[in-house]
Amino acid sequence: MKIGILTSGGDCPGLNAVIRGFAKYVYNQIPKAEIIGISDGYGGLISGEAHTLKESDFSGILNVGGTILGTSRQPFKLMTQEDQNGQSKLDMMKKNYKKLGLDLLVTLGGAGTHKTAALLSQNGCNVIGIPKTIDNDIWGTDVTFGFHTAVDIATECIDRIHTTAASHGRTMLIEIMGNKVGWLTLYAGVAGGADIVLIPELPFEPDEVVKTVKKRIDKGKAFNIIAIAEGAMTKHESKMKKQDRLEARGNDTTITNALAKYIEEKAEVETRVVVPGHLQRGGNPSPYDRFLSTEMGCFAGKLVEEGKFGTTVSVQGNKITSNYLMDIAGKTKYIPKDHQIIEVARSIGISFGDGEKYEKIV
Ligand code: F6P
Repeated sequence: MKIGILTSGGDCPGLNAVIRGFAKYVYNQIPKAEIIGISDGYGGLISGEAHTLKESDFSGILNVGGTILGTSRQPFKLMTQEDQNGQSKLDMMKKNYKKLGLDLLVTLGGAGTHKTAALLSQNGCNVIGIPKTIDNDIWGTDVTFGFHTAVDIATECIDRIHTTAASHGRTMLIEIMGNKVGWLTLYAGVAGGADIVLIPELPFEPDEVVKTVKKRIDKGKAFNIIAIAEGAMTKHESKMKKQDRLEARGNDTTITNALAKYIEEKAEVETRVVVPGHLQRGGNPSPYDRFLSTEMGCFAGKLVEEGKFGTTVSVQGNKITSNYLMDIAGKTKYIPKDHQIIEVARSIGISFGDGEKYEKIV
C-alpha cells in the first residue's frame, strides 16, 4: 500500500509529532505499507515533488516544531482555475496522485486544507485529513493539534507584558493570532488574567473599552491588559464587508493600533501594542500537543487500516473519532456567544467591550 502524506497551510507545533505517530502506527500495524512524503503541501502534489520516507526519517521528531515535509499556502479558490493549457491545479494533483501510484493521501492542515481534501476526495482520490491549526477553528472537532501550545505561548506573552504594564502603569494591547475566530485570544486572555478580551465573535464598542480602562484606573489600578484577536472588530466595522473594512483601516490590517491610539486620547493613559505574531506558531509542541498529535496520527492510521476514506480525525468529548470531509469542509467553528468560557470570563469581571454584563441566572 502506497500512502502519500503532506502538511499544508501555516505550520504549527505538533505536525511532526502527528507524522511520527501516523508512521509508527502504519509500520507496526499495516504490513508492506510505504509512506511517500509530499513536499511543501499541495504545492508538492501539484508539481509532483515527493520521495519515499524511511522508518529512520520519523525518528527524533516528536518534540520538533515545524514540519519535516515543508508546507505552503495554496488558496482553495485557485484549485479549479485553469491555466493557459486548460489545466487546473486539481487536474495536476489528480495526475500526480496516479503517477506516484498512491492508494491514499493523508493531509495535515487547517480549514483551507480540508476544503481541498474534500475536493480531491470528490474527485476520486482516497483522502484522510488530520485537523491542524493554532486557531482551533475546524468544524466538528473540539480541539485541533497545535492550539494548546499556542495558548501556552500567548499566555506567557501576556504574563510577561503584565509585569511591564504594572511597572509603568500602562495600558498594553497584546494582539493574538486568529483572523476569523477568537479561541486563542479567549483562552490565553483568561489564562493570562487579561482585563479586556476582544474577539471577532463579539464586536466591541471602542467607548466601552475606554470606559473599562477608566473604571480600573478610578479603582486605583494603574494598568490594563487587553488581549485582542487579529480579527477583532468594532460593532461599526462588523456591519461592513471584509474588503471595505480593510480599506477603511488603511495601512493597518488589524484594528489594534487604531484602538490603542483611541484609548490613549480618550482615557488619557499611555498605551503600547505588542504583537507576538508567528512566535505563537513556532517551536516545540507542548507535552499535551505531543500526546494529542500522537493520538490523532494513530487514529488516522486506524482509518487507513479500516479503509475509511473521505474522512478527517476529530475529538468529540474525550473520544477520538472522525467526520466526513464533506460534512465539515467550508464550515468555521466560531465561539458561540454564550460559550461557558465567555460566561466564566464575564462572571469574574473581564470585559469584552460589548457592553454586556454577566447576568446571574440562579
Ligand atoms: O491560521 C493560522 C494563522 O496563524 C492565523 O492565526 C494567522 O492569521 C495566519 O495563520 C497568518 O498566516 P501567515 O503565516 O501566512 O502570515
